[in-house]
Amino acid sequence: MACRELGTNIFCVGAIDWDRRLFDELIPLPQGTSYNAYLIKGSEKTALLDTVDPSKTAELLENLDNSGVKTIDYLIAHHAEQDHSGNIPTILERFPEAKLVTNPKCKSLLVDLLHIPEVKFQTINDGDKLSLGDRTLQFILTPWVHWPETMSTYLEEEGILFSCDFFGSHLASSEIFVKDAALVINGAKRYYAEIMMPFRAAIKGNLEKIKNLNIRMIAPSHGPVHDKPEFIVNAYREWTSDEVKNQVVIPFVSMHGSTRRMVDYLIEALMEKDIQVEPFNLTVADVGELAMSLVDAATVVIATPTVLAGAHPSAAYAAFLTNALRPKVKFAALIGSYGWGGKTVEQIKGLLANLQAEILEPVLVKGHPKDEDLEKLDKLADLILSKHKDLGIC
Ligand code: FEO
Repeated sequence: MACRELGTNIFCVGAIDWDRRLFDELIPLPQGTSYNAYLIKGSEKTALLDTVDPSKTAELLENLDNSGVKTIDYLIAHHAEQDHSGNIPTILERFPEAKLVTNPKCKSLLVDLLHIPEVKFQTINDGDKLSLGDRTLQFILTPWVHWPETMSTYLEEEGILFSCDFFGSHLASSEIFVKDAALVINGAKRYYAEIMMPFRAAIKGNLEKIKNLNIRMIAPSHGPVHDKPEFIVNAYREWTSDEVKNQVVIPFVSMHGSTRRMVDYLIEALMEKDIQVEPFNLTVADVGELAMSLVDAATVVIATPTVLAGAHPSAAYAAFLTNALRPKVKFAALIGSYGWGGKTVEQIKGLLANLQAEILEPVLVKGHPKDEDLEKLDKLADLILSKHKDLGIC
């Protein structure tokens, strides 16, 4: 990423990672990502907000050179994860005068992860301000917009919220600002679903915390800058709300077609009732897409054959992931086929223990589904419709 001006004496000095396709060895990045870092020059002091992934050191240093910066007084660390913190040691070596400014929790993690000496730190607390002369940074603790130590910085005079992972999107783009809103919202929803959904209550709290700020722009640490901030803030309000939609998500796997027949039948039965269905064949599915669907859905139905005396490992993984993401689904069910027995129901129920959802009666079929088995799927679809009606969403 070339060094570019976000505003007067505010420079984007981060890096674009066009090729990266996996994050945390878990999260698919179909559109790459960026590691945004920002340099703010005040009349008296200069601050660098975050660094970049360890793989992008050269870009960061080149951009800093191109910005003309000679001295960095403060290096602000919003988050200890290495995609933002990984080059802190490099910056502290290049600019030994810089104080590393962060909150106590983040300091503790940075000491553990990067072995940064205690003497380099200047700790701040929620609401503290730091003057750069004619510019003022206000620190706002925004926990769980990934990890518990994450925080944001509000540049008061310009009304810019530097939000780190919060409001970010894994999207490699040559544009500084959001141009294609649909593309960015898709990337932002994917990111919310994958790392923030489990902490929905905390995210809601953070939205409350920033609501009275006069935010003109949101500059996250991944993806384009939001110059129309209400767009992404409203999307977050919707995702974190208690409202669910008339949607059923069906992660499924089938070995010889019996479970697939059940899935296809249930899809049709639900569609006939005007319920939106989002099936995910787990042998080919992008788990990020699955996570996104779980943001809004009222119901999840896991479909699996019985293999090795239990759920298919792909279905067990989907259940485990769903449980870890803690979506706001209200209902969960299990369907599938078996040959001679097994512990599939107990396994999947156990794997979904975090969900605050009503578990509906499972539909387990011996062998390939017969007419009477398909009738049970009709009843399940009727029950889902009735439950959704009770919620007032259809
Ligand atoms: Fe972008 Fe949680 O790091």
